[in-house]
Amino acid sequence: MPCCKLEDDIYSVGILNPGMRIFDVVMRTDYGTSYNSYLVMGTEKTALIDVSHATFADQYLDNIREVISLSKIDYIVMNHCEPDHSGALADLLPHCPNAKIVVSKAGSIYLKNITNRSDLPMITVKDGDTLDLGGKLLKFINAPFLHWPDTMFTWVEQSKTLFSCDFLGCHFCEPYTFDYHVVYTRGYETALKEYYDAIFRPFTPYVVAGLEKIRNLDPEMVATSHGPVLTRGCRLEYALERFTEWSAPQEKSSKRIPIFYCSAYGNTGKIGAAIRDGVREILPDADAEIYDINEYSMDLLLEKLNRSDAFAVGSPTINADAVAPVWKLLSHVDVINNRKRPALAFGSFGWSGEAVPNLVARLTGLKCTVFGEGFRVTFVPSEQDLAQAKELGREFARSL
Ligand code: FEO
Repeated sequence: MPCCKLEDDIYSVGILNPGMRIFDVVMRTDYGTSYNSYLVMGTEKTALIDVSHATFADQYLDNIREVISLSKIDYIVMNHCEPDHSGALADLLPHCPNAKIVVSKAGSIYLKNITNRSDLPMITVKDGDTLDLGGKLLKFINAPFLHWPDTMFTWVEQSKTLFSCDFLGCHFCEPYTFDYHVVYTRGYETALKEYYDAIFRPFTPYVVAGLEKIRNLDPEMVATSHGPVLTRGCRLEYALERFTEWSAPQEKSSKRIPIFYCSAYGNTGKIGAAIRDGVREILPDADAEIYDINEYSMDLLLEKLNRSDAFAVGSPTINADAVAPVWKLLSHVDVINNRKRPALAFGSFGWSGEAVPNLVARLTGLKCTVFGEGFRVTFVPSEQDLAQAKELGREFARSL
């Protein structure tokens, strides 16, 4: 990617990675990504904002050299230290003998452990601190959990440019820098939503706080660390509006209590249905649907779970454990949003019945409020078992 001038003395020098299809092990990226990085040049000092992925270090250094000698970099601002932005730092530092790394307190700890170096030339900044580059003042704004604890924004008041790190970004890659050059707009919009869902949905209170900070700054341009640079009058407003909409509390008139299960021979499913019937008896207006995990998309199930008021999850015991689709569902639970959420485990088993206690342990680890010790039935639930499951559903509903 050739470097690109954003405005006077601010350049984009990042890397395009159009072939990436999986990010962070779990996130599909159908549109590739970019690792954005920016040079801000004052009359006295030069700052590099965000770095790049280690895989592309050579190309990245060449991009910077198109604008300035590496030895003239005075500050390397790490808005966030995840390795897609810090990976090339080890290759960069030997070429920048004068550079100080500017990082939040949390970031300073992460960076030491990521680089395994305790001798990094770091300046730790806190919310509101500034660095004068000469005619351009960098202001650092804490943005915790957007999406790591270390995240901060960097603001240039003179040009009203915000470097927002991952926030408002997305995994989208076209050979252009600015949003007004995006060709495949539907792809961009899909990528923005997918990025929000994967990266920011678990942190909605922090998203709301971050949006407020950005609105107060009233930027002309938001230079994210992935995807196109957002400009006022083009995609900046769109990104702000969508993030606002997606992080807004959902209007609801009744409680949402989804019941998820897998069932080898229908027995765990029968227990789930009885629990649902009990819930509905106490809360007739509740949205208490039952979902066979194998019959629905994981996206839909996660939407139901992460926006629930309480939920139940059931599994048979196979190979001394709950079954894989159930674990897959629970591996995507938003831990922060589901903290203290009431949850109930159930299941049928034949021999030893580890699934339910294992689910209880997992739900406890997720900081859910686990209801009782879980409900287990040996093989086929009898009428009495189903009556107990229904009563359990009633008790669960009464507790909400
Ligand atoms: Fe793009 Fe959280 O790193």
